Amino acid sequence: MRREAETNTATATGVTITPDGPLLLPGPVEVTLPDGTVVTSRRFTVALCTCRRSRIYPWCDTSHRRRAKNTRETR
Ligand code: FES
Repeated sequence: MRREAETNTATATGVTITPDGPLLLPGPVEVTLPDGTVVTSRRFTVALCTCRRSRIYPWCDTSHRRRAKNTRETR
């Protein structure tokens, strides 16, 4: 049996990693959470929380900024 090489011709999705901040990706985005819940954002650019401090997880609510600011103030 001969197998054809699979080629993905879809356009690559650009994802931006921000230092100490969210992952930015073009929307709309559908995210499956660890419990199986699926949430959707239809924003033009979606900010996914990577710090786990957001009150609206998995979306970034800028809570990561408070931590960074407090870290600098204690030095
Ligand atoms: S990355 Fe912004 S609140 Fe977590």
